[in-house]
Amino acid sequence: MRKPTKAVIPVAGLGTRFLPATKAMPKEMLPLVDKPVIQYVVEEAVRAGFEDILFVTGRDKYALENHFDQSSELESRLEAKGDLARRDLVREASNLGNIHYVRQGGAKGLGHAVHAAHSFTSDEPFAVLLGDDVTEETSDLLSVMAGVHARTGSNVVALVEVPREEIHKYGCINPSGTEVDGVIPIADFVEKPKTEEAPSNYAVIGRYILNPGIHSILANQAPGAGGEIQLTDALATAARTGAAGGVVGVVFRGERYDAGDKLEFLKATVLLASKRDDLGPDLLAWLKDFIATR
Ligand code: UTP
Repeated sequence: MRKPTKAVIPVAGLGTRFLPATKAMPKEMLPLVDKPVIQYVVEEAVRAGFEDILFVTGRDKYALENHFDQSSELESRLEAKGDLARRDLVREASNLGNIHYVRQGGAKGLGHAVHAAHSFTSDEPFAVLLGDDVTEETSDLLSVMAGVHARTGSNVVALVEVPREEIHKYGCINPSGTEVDGVIPIADFVEKPKTEEAPSNYAVIGRYILNPGIHSILANQAPGAGGEIQLTDALATAARTGAAGGVVGVVFRGERYDAGDKLEFLKATVLLASKRDDLGPDLLAWLKDFIATR
């Protein structure tokens, strides 16, 4: 089984849940404390050994390309002021992996965005990280998923267990067996099921290791929910038929936030800031006072 080394990060969505902030700015560039959401995602990929990264972009995503490019003028100005700490912060983003870009050509769905990467991924398995999904900075989720991929040869999706009353917000799996060492075989997927009809409490989150065969399924995938080509529909075909190696899930029990959702974004901001030496103590003290006086 070939080891995946390439990562695809779709960032071509319209970010309508975060309007008006995302009218002219990609939601992936919203800052969590002092780093854009997308930088956390790229750092996670690089940490797991995925150095070759393809952004699937759309219109108005220039800010994102600039963020990962060198900024010689800014660096020289900071150097001239002797502010080497900030210069290094600026540099850090442009030294992360080998970044490539392809245009999706319209936000036609996540499946469509992933298929736009087919020349880049060619006949190799690859990782997909959603550009607005953030996991805790110490997470080794992707490496664990790559290990499960090497062992099973299947497509691997990341799952979280959610309370029953929240499963209607997610893509949900129908397991074909029980969880063994954090790995679950998957028979099918149901998008945003009614609470009483959900086949499990396991929700799909934005990390995947996919086999190249997924592209043949995506190429023939009819539009699904919202008239978009859905990655979940292609994975459902793989799970039902065993095509492209079938699908298994890896359960993630760490902290994870959908930064494209306003409440989750606020939670992620507080969590990340609370862990920082320069901000955490003051923020937590203020929060305690704030809550006590509400
Ligand atoms: P979302 O469904 O969260 O993104 O897609 P969205 O459509 O931009 O968000 P809302 O619902 O309108 O607020 C998850 C990831 O997939 C990308 C998004 O940029 C996001 O990082 N995506 C989605 C694409 O690249 N292309 C698409 O056609 C759809």
